[in-house]
Amino acid sequence: MEKKQRENWGSRVGFLMAAAGSAVGLGNIWRFPYMAGDNGGSAFIIIYLAFALIIGISIMISEFAIGRRTELAAVGAYKSINKNFTFAGVLGVLSAFFIMGFYPVVGGWALAYVFKSFTGLLSNPAVIGDIFGGFITSSFEPVMWMLIFLAMNIAIVAKGIAGGIEKAGKILMPTLFVLLLLIAGRSVTLPGAGAGLDFLFKPDFSAVTGQTYLAALGQAFFSLSLGMGCMITYGSYLGKSENLPSNALIVTLMDTGVALLAGIAIFPALFAFGMEPAVGAGLVFVVVPQIFAAMGGIGTLFSAIFFVALTVAALTSSVSLLEVVTAYLIDQRGWERKKSVYTAGGIMVVTGILSSLSMGLMSGFTMFGVGVFDFFDILTDKIFLAIGGLLLAIFVGWFVDKKDLEDEITNGGTIKFGLFNVWYNTVKYVIPVAILIVAVMGIISIEQTSLMIFGLAVIGVLAIFSKKL
Ligand code: PFF
Repeated sequence: MEKKQRENWGSRVGFLMAAAGSAVGLGNIWRFPYMAGDNGGSAFIIIYLAFALIIGISIMISEFAIGRRTELAAVGAYKSINKNFTFAGVLGVLSAFFIMGFYPVVGGWALAYVFKSFTGLLSNPAVIGDIFGGFITSSFEPVMWMLIFLAMNIAIVAKGIAGGIEKAGKILMPTLFVLLLLIAGRSVTLPGAGAGLDFLFKPDFSAVTGQTYLAALGQAFFSLSLGMGCMITYGSYLGKSENLPSNALIVTLMDTGVALLAGIAIFPALFAFGMEPAVGAGLVFVVVPQIFAAMGGIGTLFSAIFFVALTVAALTSSVSLLEVVTAYLIDQRGWERKKSVYTAGGIMVVTGILSSLSMGLMSGFTMFGVGVFDFFDILTDKIFLAIGGLLLAIFVGWFVDKKDLEDEITNGGTIKFGLFNVWYNTVKYVIPVAILIVAVMGIISIEQTSLMIFGLAVIGVLAIFSKKL
């Protein structure tokens, strides 16, 4: 087969925006606050930050390096260096696929809330929580929004990397940031907001368990789009003159910055309204509209803009997930881009419908003790991403030539990376040990034991059949 010139990002800013666009998404604004709320606040946040800044950045540099070196997406990248690791790439594709089993459902909620902002959502703050509960448990409406959201993904990814993904991110990511600043400003000035800031920033380690560490690790990987080959795939489109460590640093700082900002936007207001922090997955959809409702008429407009921005943040992340699956089909199966996108997207229609219905109509149907939505969420976030990160660290630390890594990360010796050895040893020794400890502690204390065993069995099966993948 003739080697085609690899598609490339249009510009440096374009790549940064796309990578940050992948990282910043529902994980930061929807998931991070409710995970922090459910796990006791500040102590969880500190552990999360430590994981993001030490493990996250190191893994991101590794993923960029492997992707750019091989100019291949996840599976091909692993395979071309060491066949025994092919399964780690496939695990990544599977993770992307499973995350896309529930992510578009929440993306659909965000999209629906753009319109709901105008149709009475804010008119009675007392029932905002009930409206959310009623909406997500109904059958037709959330499925319809999910399908619209998924269709947008398919349309963007079908157009290819620089054409679709890059443009969408460039305009709307900054919009989201400005809006979050605005909401945070309002939130911290509400009477009674201080309790929320304490919850966020006064550490209380008394309630920390093995679960907290696993949740924080999973959240860090999920939020930074790591442990599943997404950044390998994006790195494969990256120009040879880009500085990998500085790109990784910028993306990580932007991502954690937005997550913290989302926390500051939500918790002070939550306490000011006298609500409980552990309200679960509805947090952002219940608290943010309340903040806007308290603003009067102008709140409607802000609310609509906020949910547009949230939808776009979700979109720039979900397209990267769909791209992982698509790139696999293109690179490894030799399919056309359009056929790849439509096939993958078609299956996601089915998983998305099942996930959405698991909130209501199908709530009685469980797999390994949880509903379809939670099945996809827990399986990826608590098992696949952590193991994916572990495999990547072992792969880079022990199976890739150190000289090659140095060459790739310093762009053939033309740029300096003074921390190369620190990075290398972190990836080789610290990260594998850290992830193993966290995984074992988490697995011991997890409630969904059968799901955990299932997840590990899937990885085992992939490893055994790796030669065929
Ligand atoms: N990082 C995204 C978020 O925080 O919403 C979700 C995500 C995208 C996870 C891409 C993994 C991934 F490869």
